[in-house]
Amino acid sequence: MLLHVRQVLTAEELREARAILAQAPWADGRVTAGVQSAQAKNNEQLPQDGDVARALQQIVLRGLNRHAIFFSAALPRRVFPPLFNRYAGATNAFGNHVDNAVRYLPGGNAERVRTDISCTLFLAEPHEYDGGELVVEDTFGEQRVKLPAGDMVLYPGTSVHRVEPVTRGARVASFFWLESMVRSDEQRRLLFDMDSHLMRLRASVGEADPAVIGLTGTYHNLLRMWADV
Ligand code: NI
Repeated sequence: MLLHVRQVLTAEELREARAILAQAPWADGRVTAGVQSAQAKNNEQLPQDGDVARALQQIVLRGLNRHAIFFSAALPRRVFPPLFNRYAGATNAFGNHVDNAVRYLPGGNAERVRTDISCTLFLAEPHEYDGGELVVEDTFGEQRVKLPAGDMVLYPGTSVHRVEPVTRGARVASFFWLESMVRSDEQRRLLFDMDSHLMRLRASVGEADPAVIGLTGTYHNLLRMWADV
């Protein structure tokens, strides 16, 4: 499932993040790439463990933690600390690749995250740069994604994807992966659909309707059957 998650950051948080990014110490993006994707990758990244990245991570994680649609769609179990990248000038593209299946959390204690879902949170407005679309190859064909700053796209970690060359301006984004409580994209999708319909049903017939109570139970029982926590 490819999903556009709107307004992960507030306007104020976006301003704060962009002010920090204006002072950011960008470095070669190949540090977090595997051998194969290092050949396709030509961008810049913020050093993972610096003060700047940590301040920005807090802003992004705060936005994620309060976002009900993100939670419902991703059912996160572990979130890799968000990374930040920039595509501009001579370092402006990332060719087709698949993300590594397992990432080690920074900190050296060998904690791992299975990358069920890849996330890109846009931090530059679409009018600030040309090109830079995230292109995800999906079972429905190629999806081209370029979102307003503060919005995010979720897509399956299994998909081949690329970032088109940026030919003007700078595309700045946060990207990260997460391990979901529900490993299967198909099951996650069913749960998300059911939860979304339930929200609408609650709004129209109320919380106390017996069908709402029954279907909420079914949702949780499916989640119980499929979730690893
Ligand atoms: Ni990637």
